[in-house]
Amino acid sequence: AAAEKGGYDTFMEKEIHEQPQAVGDTLLGRTDEDGRLVLDELRISEEQLKNVDRITIVACGTAAYAGMVAKYAIEHWTRIPVEVALAHEFRYCDPIVSERTLVVSISQSGETMDTLMAVKHARELGALTVSVCNTHGSTIPRESDAVLYTHAGPEIAVASTKAFLAQITACYVLGLYLAQLRGGSYADDAAAVLKDLHEVPDKIAELLGSMDRVQEIARFMADTRSVLFLGRHVGYPIAMEGALKLKELAYIHAEGFAAGELKHGPIALIEPGQPVFIVVPGPDTPHGLHGKVVSNIQEIRARGARTLVIAQEGDTAVEPFADEIIRVPATSPMLAPLLTVVPLQVFALHLSTAKGLDVDQPRNLAKSVTVE
Ligand code: G6P
Repeated sequence: AAAEKGGYDTFMEKEIHEQPQAVGDTLLGRTDEDGRLVLDELRISEEQLKNVDRITIVACGTAAYAGMVAKYAIEHWTRIPVEVALAHEFRYCDPIVSERTLVVSISQSGETMDTLMAVKHARELGALTVSVCNTHGSTIPRESDAVLYTHAGPEIAVASTKAFLAQITACYVLGLYLAQLRGGSYADDAAAVLKDLHEVPDKIAELLGSMDRVQEIARFMADTRSVLFLGRHVGYPIAMEGALKLKELAYIHAEGFAAGELKHGPIALIEPGQPVFIVVPGPDTPHGLHGKVVSNIQEIRARGARTLVIAQEGDTAVEPFADEIIRVPATSPMLAPLLTVVPLQVFALHLSTAKGLDVDQPRNLAKSVTVE
């Protein structure tokens, strides 16, 4: 079994370390020599894709958070409205779907019953369906019009890590492809993002080499009863994913919030000593979001929160208000989630380990939920 884990103590730890490759392999072979995306594998005509006027992403759990990240990016790059629906809600909310709707399902296993039923329902309503999936020949890709595989390799640990990064990557590839099809400045912008995206695997590898302090922080926090996570823009779903990992693995009450929502309620939870992770957008994120999140850190710190700040290298503005700073390599705003989630995964892994829990097989959970 040790050999299967490649020298790591758990599958989860191994899979966290496979993330540079998961992202790299998901990009591999999808560009031509001019760096343009080629997605013939989709088997949907360019005409049909150009006709899409609305995208609905359906997924559950971690895959749904990948979808939420993708929404920000795809809307920004294509100007096509994107909605994210939890798959088990989709069928029961009288969804607005036409032949011009692209329904993108995201599933690591390809067997999640809730997601499968959502895809079937979407097809019945006449939508074009694309499956973003990690498992060849599984049910959801077979029941979809098209499939864009993530190439994360088999994921054994119940809590998803490398599949999550590969899902974001595949959704980005799809969004950038739609932007490329739109042409003009959309295509130019997409080409620039794609170039940056190819640099992400090396940045994840670099980040994984600097996780010692995160591991230490996790060990010191083994008795913690509640942890909050704040993020904004693409950092908001990352905050929720960080919280989900902690619930799943360490059985600790954890919640992710949009940082802007803080003053509308959650700030009441802040009392002296309350640990809060803050996913800080890079300083060049549009609309001054960086400064706004720095103010949020200041506000909760003033109320006694223990601030665990995830910030880009070189971001000095966070320093006066951070109890701990976890640095991530600099990248463009939309690509940041592929980095900022990594310390949160590592944190949950080591907190779970510190509590003596089974990281790969958390209680009450299954890797793929094949019942409704
Ligand atoms: C289960 C797993 C989660 C996963 C979700 C969706 O609940 O425990 O880790 O995110 O299913 O799984 P899928 O295979 O559809 O991505």
